[in-house]
Amino acid sequence: MDIISKDVSKAVALLNADEIVAIPTETVYGLAGNIYSEKAIKAIFETKKRPFFNPLIVHIPSIDSLNSIVEYVPEKAQLLAEAFWPGPVTLVLKKKNTIPDLITAGKDTVAVRVPNHPITLELLNQLNFPLAAPSANPFSSISPTTAQHVETYFKDQIKMVLDGGACTSGIESTIIGFENDEPIIYRLGSTALEDIERIVGKIKIKNSVAEQSRSKKNIAPDAPGMLERHYAPKTKTILTENISKLLPIYKGKRIGLITFQNEIEDNSVEVQIALSKTGNLTESASNLYDVLHQLDKMHLDIIIAERMPDYGLGKSINDRLQRATADT
Ligand code: TXA
Ligand code: MG
Repeated sequence: MDIISKDVSKAVALLNADEIVAIPTETVYGLAGNIYSEKAIKAIFETKKRPFFNPLIVHIPSIDSLNSIVEYVPEKAQLLAEAFWPGPVTLVLKKKNTIPDLITAGKDTVAVRVPNHPITLELLNQLNFPLAAPSANPFSSISPTTAQHVETYFKDQIKMVLDGGACTSGIESTIIGFENDEPIIYRLGSTALEDIERIVGKIKIKNSVAEQSRSKKNIAPDAPGMLERHYAPKTKTILTENISKLLPIYKGKRIGLITFQNEIEDNSVEVQIALSKTGNLTESASNLYDVLHQLDKMHLDIIIAERMPDYGLGKSINDRLQRATADT
């Protein structure tokens, strides 16, 4: 049975009946359920095989709903919500007691955002409850940016993928927490660091990959999207600054290459894809996961990815590539 459908009223009916539905957002597809339905939330964790210590993001239809989710909104959180919602910024704030512990993994904070996708905003407006929605992929694997990606992962486990086309931003939202009312980045993402700093000034990044490599693994991190190996293809994947130095080492292997902009002249490469021929980082971010999905299907021996420029969305893409290539 085809589970992909554009029928919003069908999604409404399923969600009202405590079922889970995959939904489009501007970043990646989410696996959504009623935040107040224990049955739906448990199904999200079970379907994804996600550990219960990893909390979910709550999706609301507009900034007006924020006060029903959180206890208190620091001034800079208000500024960020006004500047970026609807859009790919998630705020982690002190939760109201009415938010179930299952959503927040027992934390006293909750992650919340207003997604910027017309179909999902229409859906949220037709429901009497917000939607918890982690990315619609099995735990640690590549996030889905098309309805077909979700179908490939979960066709036997869920009843519906609400089709909203390919995600325009293509990597997850930027997550911002607050310590003593000051913002701090928990996860780099679709909203560039520089754009956030334009609103709230210089901001610290928590749990950077470098910092995490130094610390011991397997402790529940502040935002488990920060787990070292994440967003990972099944094919061995390497991130490099210098492709031409690396290629001779893998001579005779079936190599897939991901570059930023340029084409590399080398016969030993079986397939190569540039994320943006015009060198546009926004376009690169929107293509990243689809390219990883494509190459991962080809049964290559190795995927080699070129490091992006270290500014704007390049920083966020590098973060994802670094986690996709981390050793377990
Ligand atoms: O773009 C996105 O954010 C997508 C779309 C579907 O909205 N969602 C997404 O969800 O990326 P997920 O579950 O894959 O990542 C959510 C991240 C996790 O790393 C989780 O640890 C963090 O948000 N998170 C959720 N609640 C938190 C909290 N109370 N404190 C700190 N981190 C939290
Ligand atoms: Mg995820």
